[in-house]
Amino acid sequence: MFTLGVIIASDKGSRGERVDESGKLIQDIMKENGYDVKKYIVLPDEQDLLEEELVYMSDILKVDLILTSGGTGFSKRDVTPEATMKVISRQTPGIAEAIRYYSLQITPRAMLSRAVAGIRKNTLIINLPGSPKAIKETLEYIVPSVHHGLEILK
Ligand code: MTE
Repeated sequence: MFTLGVIIASDKGSRGERVDESGKLIQDIMKENGYDVKKYIVLPDEQDLLEEELVYMSDILKVDLILTSGGTGFSKRDVTPEATMKVISRQTPGIAEAIRYYSLQITPRAMLSRAVAGIRKNTLIINLPGSPKAIKETLEYIVPSVHHGLEILK
């Protein structure tokens, strides 16, 4: 069984102004796929806070996989890809490419996602878009291959 950390990047969510459906959905889907959720947190779109949490989940909790959601678009506050790039040592561009490839067949707006993915030590980090619709679409497509990747990383 693989362990999982979930980080939701949302200014409104962190202030309690929006119910976080995305975080619940990610946890439900990943539990169905046999993942053990070690931590789930909603953070504002602040690069330093996102970096700190990514480092904490990888280095202290040592989770196998971190899924972030939100903050990958063009808004000036969207900094999730920048936080992720700062903490990873190896990029895994194929995962972000696969997400965009698959999503582009559903909506051309998928080209607006700046999501990245990569490895920090023994942890794989993947950025997902923010909306529950996009999460459902992308997770279903990537989970089997991500699982294989994690087996190799272990
Ligand atoms: N990917 C899928 N599969 N389905 C979607 O509806 N929405 C897009 C894109 N990726 C979408 C998607 C839109 S509208 C945006 S702006 C970007 O993800 C970035 O979303 P974020 O800022 O919530 O991370």
